[in-house]
Amino acid sequence: MYHFDEIADRVSEKSRKWDRKIIEKKFGSVPENFIPMWIADMDFKMPPELEKAFHEAISRGVLGYTYCYEEFYDAVIKWQYDMHHVTVKKDWITLSYGTVSTIHYVIQAFCERGDCVMMNTPVYDPFDSAARKQGVKSIYNSLKLVEGRYYIDFEHLKSQLEQYKPKLYLFCSPHNPSGRIWCLEELTEVARLCKEHNTILITDEVHGEHIMYGEFHSALNLTDGCENLILVTSPNKGFNLGGLKTSYSIISNEHIRNRFRKKLEQNSITSPNVFGIIGVIIAYEQCRPWLAGVNAYIKENYELFESYIEKKIPKLKVMKMESSYLAWVNIQETGFTSEEITTMLALQAGVLVENGTHFVKDGEGYIRVNLGTQKDKVLEALRRMEKILR
Ligand SMILES: Cc1ncc(COP(=O)(O)O)c(C=O)c1O
Repeated sequence: MYHFDEIADRVSEKSRKWDRKIIEKKFGSVPENFIPMWIADMDFKMPPELEKAFHEAISRGVLGYTYCYEEFYDAVIKWQYDMHHVTVKKDWITLSYGTVSTIHYVIQAFCERGDCVMMNTPVYDPFDSAARKQGVKSIYNSLKLVEGRYYIDFEHLKSQLEQYKPKLYLFCSPHNPSGRIWCLEELTEVARLCKEHNTILITDEVHGEHIMYGEFHSALNLTDGCENLILVTSPNKGFNLGGLKTSYSIISNEHIRNRFRKKLEQNSITSPNVFGIIGVIIAYEQCRPWLAGVNAYIKENYELFESYIEKKIPKLKVMKMESSYLAWVNIQETGFTSEEITTMLALQAGVLVENGTHFVKDGEGYIRVNLGTQKDKVLEALRRMEKILR
């Protein structure tokens, strides 16, 4: 029914992922036939239901100011209930302009200059840059690698919480860059420790819609700990709607919510983007079959990627991609650094991947490969990688 093999015109779209100028600035002079597998952006055409809804909005002929109408809250409440088994009250939901910018506002709302925030590393770099840009110090809790899977070092985390008393814990769930899904026991312990140390837990659940292996638990599933929680998310990863710059938070604690909303108001984050609010509603209400289809397609891409590497490029070790469409690949046995491999793949093979060192800390020895693209591109990238790394 959906044609995920169909190529979308990403160049006319002026996609950052495909723009030669942006690419050359980041990677240098790459071959004409490059395959971009870096930024977390998928190459699939949007669900037809979304396309239709956007056309309808255009055909009304006016794009004036809008507001957060009931359908937005209803769609979020129903989505969170059906997909993540959580009951959310309308009052808890606040619209904002992208998950990353929401994290900036959260830091502004709850931290003073010189305060600390906690995060597990490696991690999505904007967590760290958001802290840095607000003059706040990041405390890094390195994830432990046990038999090729990441675990939280709770002993160390506890001592860091005691020592640094961070105001916030920026927690990526599921985890980017590894795709690790945290189990309920791990989430419970994170929430318990945050509560004990008076640290607000911020869970970024944007990757929660691409579940490949295992079961995702929203932090809202926790029976204890939700009162100290800010959940930030958007349909931007699930449905590739990043360009709409629309997202939302869920905060049950009234005091925390009011303080956060005050900060949004100070920055005039009030009415939604006309298309952004339509994007959330239609994606959540009408595009579940598309999401199921895209997840099945990505899983096939991952299986192809993993088995090809295992057979033909065994020096690379692929971490099991439990969620997302981003494969985290250990390159240590090649003897090259992440920077060297990234540059070599880009300049010699035209395969553009993320250098693991861009993920704040503990990413040396890794690259991250975006598999949210057509299968033939994944296969061609693998062939070129094999040639370079054989
Ligand atoms: C963990 C994480 N949070 C947030 C984002 C971006 O979300 P948004 O488009 O809603 O700002 C990304 C994008 O890759 C991400 O990986």
